[in-house]
Amino acid sequence: MIKKIKVEELKAGMFVHGLAKVENGKDKAFMNTVQIHEPGQIKGLVAEGYRYAFVDETDIAAALKRERAKELAKGLNGFEPSSKEKTERIDSWELPTSTSTDSVKAVAIEPVVKNDELEHHLEDSATFDNEVVRAREIKEKAGEVLKDLLDDVRSGKGMQTDKAKKVVEGVVDSVLRNQDAMLSLVRLKEYDDYTFGHSVNVSIISTAFGRHIGLDRRRLLVLGFGSILHDVGKMLVPDKILNKPSVLTEEEFMIMKSHPVLGSDLLKEEVGIPREVVNIARHHHERFNGSGYPDGLAGNNIETFARMVAIADVYDAMTTKRVYGDTPNPGEAVKRLFSWKGTHFDPHLVDTFVGCLGIYPIGSFVRLNTGQVALVKRANRVSLLQPLVVVLYDKNGMKYPKVFDLDLAKSRDKNIVATVSSSEFKINVDEYIG
Ligand SMILES: [Fe+2]
Repeated sequence: MIKKIKVEELKAGMFVHGLAKVENGKDKAFMNTVQIHEPGQIKGLVAEGYRYAFVDETDIAAALKRERAKELAKGLNGFEPSSKEKTERIDSWELPTSTSTDSVKAVAIEPVVKNDELEHHLEDSATFDNEVVRAREIKEKAGEVLKDLLDDVRSGKGMQTDKAKKVVEGVVDSVLRNQDAMLSLVRLKEYDDYTFGHSVNVSIISTAFGRHIGLDRRRLLVLGFGSILHDVGKMLVPDKILNKPSVLTEEEFMIMKSHPVLGSDLLKEEVGIPREVVNIARHHHERFNGSGYPDGLAGNNIETFARMVAIADVYDAMTTKRVYGDTPNPGEAVKRLFSWKGTHFDPHLVDTFVGCLGIYPIGSFVRLNTGQVALVKRANRVSLLQPLVVVLYDKNGMKYPKVFDLDLAKSRDKNIVATVSSSEFKINVDEYIG
């Protein structure tokens, strides 16, 4: 649960998900994720005029525990633990909602499919290089069609669902031929309008996820269609609220939170929309422990497709490059997903999702045991810790004049030891991937 606290109440170790200050008499919000390591950072934020911070309650509890442990350690042996963690910044994402944890009613569920059933779904019929050219065209077309569809919804016209189904077929077939090709494109910030760029990405990610758990083409089409329309209800939220640059008032926030109901009601009225598609629109903000909205459902009471799209939605929001943001690091986003296992998200599905994208998904910055810094180019679904990387920097942080590929699965003595904050590297990731 995200809580708004005064900047002065921040403590070392906390992740700040958003900051607010008053500028020209108006509230202005800034959303990103920064970890606080030392009191100096808090003083800096105060000096810059920030008044409030948005932090996760679990981080508050953890920070208090650390503080107590520090005091205890000091008292016992004079030892003062110091944090060696680096400042991390994940790109901005939709401000999490204020939720209640009173209704925690998580239930255990069985894995969706067993590992030994997966293998035949993972065979590619096209190489990455062949598919990425087609995938780029398909993604572009999907963006155009979805933009028209969402514009029509906004202006009160009917939905051209047949066209949308057609582009989803294209996405699904591309993912079935070679999912890495499509997945390598989701990092790109190609659209000015966040909602529809994000919707296309969520559809691609969800489809790859669905392929990984062994869904057949027919089911993938339903999942792809539901995920591309998951936020369709946002088109019925007044523009001044949807695109408001400052903090939403409580009333505006409630209106924003109505988008799952608005979207599912809209889809229900359409002919030929599968039930699962309606449910994805309604339940993609439900959380596994019952703390989400609009219905406060928990565990298996949230349909599997909605539980899957919930993960894909948040993952994409954390990894999509924004105009003014740093290059996001998918490896860091995976870490955050792991930390939400069993609370926000179905734990089995998080594991499966990471199995699909890799612990170090395409676009992750990683440090090798040699001290070199590399960028993940292709996932390795058999051995998640050994992706194909492109080595960019030597152990002294000097960029190689000629960067080179390294398949960690074939390397006996090189391995990944950590993810690295991408904000340290001002490079165009797209130059090296795809
Ligand atoms: Fe949403």
